Amino acid sequence: MKYSKYRHEGDSLELNLFVKGIGLKSLHLGLWPKGQPLAFDDVSEAQKKFTIKLISMFPKDVETVLDVGAGIGDNAIYMAEKGMKITCISPSPSQEKHFVENILPEYENVNFIRNKYENLDINEKFDVVLMSESCTYFPMKKGLEQTNRYLKKGGYLVVGDTFRKDNRTTFKNLHRLESYIETAEKNGLIQMENIDVTDQVIQTIELIYNVLKYIPPITEVILDFYKRMFRRKYWIISKLVSTFFPQELNIAKDILFDAGLRRADPELFLEYITYRFLAFKKEIDS
Ligand SMILES: C[S@@+](CC[C@H](N)C(=O)[O-])C[C@H]1O[C@@H](n2cnc3c(N)ncnc32)[C@H](O)[C@@H]1O
Repeated sequence: MKYSKYRHEGDSLELNLFVKGIGLKSLHLGLWPKGQPLAFDDVSEAQKKFTIKLISMFPKDVETVLDVGAGIGDNAIYMAEKGMKITCISPSPSQEKHFVENILPEYENVNFIRNKYENLDINEKFDVVLMSESCTYFPMKKGLEQTNRYLKKGGYLVVGDTFRKDNRTTFKNLHRLESYIETAEKNGLIQMENIDVTDQVIQTIELIYNVLKYIPPITEVILDFYKRMFRRKYWIISKLVSTFFPQELNIAKDILFDAGLRRADPELFLEYITYRFLAFKKEIDS
């Protein structure tokens, strides 16, 4: 199933589901203290802990940050409040609107560029490039070449994300950890830290799975209700949708019923995926 056309603006159905549907205030998984019982109300707190931990991996005295795939700006706000100057980039029109309406008026030291990282072409270098759950959205090599280009000498790339543990192709949209580190080194980025936090993010996957698994049966019940209530109208509408939007219909079904649920399956996650906080240093000027 090809989602690229539907993800290329960075506004995926899944992201909207979590923010608008579930009410999350951040787009990353969060970091749970070991042994903490799971509760939806604690997700925001876990997400805050994630931000604090990731940003604690920055070197000292950071002034400028390129926040790649800035989402809805919770990391940017945290860094801005620490006095850093943040350039946020994302191709998403709805995220741009959110920044323009809610964040830029309040934080002079934040700006927003709507673009894909792989296409970014500006004349500036940064102390840190931050990729908080965004590095899977663009090709690994191009993303790391861009990072080498935009980092000052001595600057850091800090990444928090899911990686494939090995060569198996399940979850092939994710970068393989070993290849990522190798490709970073080829692009002048030397690994400084590599922390496995899989057992502190899996809790959010479990919560998401527990929500998503109810979508198919609930949808069936609602559709069945409409079918019976509005037999004729329902038939016409469903015929129109499947005739004029067959691909869109299949993609929505796949995200909500199949692939989305598979991606959030905690057992599959633990089998194939490792969640890492990584820091790389650019040693040589280029
Ligand atoms: C899972 S969200 C993470 C958001 C945020 N960094 C956070 O930690 O909450 C992924 C982000 O990457 C952005 N994105 C998608 N494609 C991108 C691309 N080609 N270049 C840069 N950002 C991209 C999405 O719009 C979104 O902002």
